[in-house]
Amino acid sequence: MPDRPIILTGFMGSGKSSVGKVLAEKLSCRFIDLDAEIVAAAGLSINEIFARDGEDAFRGLECAQLERILSSGEECVIATGGGVVIRQQNRELMRKRGVIVNLKVTLEQVLDRLQGCSDRPLLAGEKAPERVRVLMEGREQLYADADIRIDTNGKSVEDVAAVILCRLKGLSA
Ligand code: S3P
Repeated sequence: MPDRPIILTGFMGSGKSSVGKVLAEKLSCRFIDLDAEIVAAAGLSINEIFARDGEDAFRGLECAQLERILSSGEECVIATGGGVVIRQQNRELMRKRGVIVNLKVTLEQVLDRLQGCSDRPLLAGEKAPERVRVLMEGREQLYADADIRIDTNGKSVEDVAAVILCRLKGLSA
């Protein structure tokens, strides 16, 4: 297994947190949820940060927490927020310090999974489906820049974790 953190990237609803927990358990290491670290550090929910200070402020906190976690050198599994790839600084840091595993989802999967969810400020409002499509398209290239990409369509959380483990073995072979 790699001696660097495993960093899960992917759009909202791609299953990063669920898969990350299973993966960390299988690798006997700590699971870290980047959004949860941001919430803990700010003392505010993601919705509150966006509403009070705006997306830029959220991205600043995201960047700071990612840097803090990756500087620790701990071997862990990190589930990032879907927008972590937006900042070049984050992309460079993740590439340098970790193994990037991207979970690919389809637009249909995302819309299905995030239906009725109220804790994603970027998906609030009636135009959400169109916004999801545009956001996904805009980020596709950034997500593609990963060490491993997994197509999650039709796979359970356990399946995805098993495929990642297999691919990680391939990387270190
Ligand atoms: C975001 C994804 C969210 C969270 C924030 C912004 C994004 O995390 O960080 O709402 O820009 O895609 P999840 O991908 O865990 O939902």
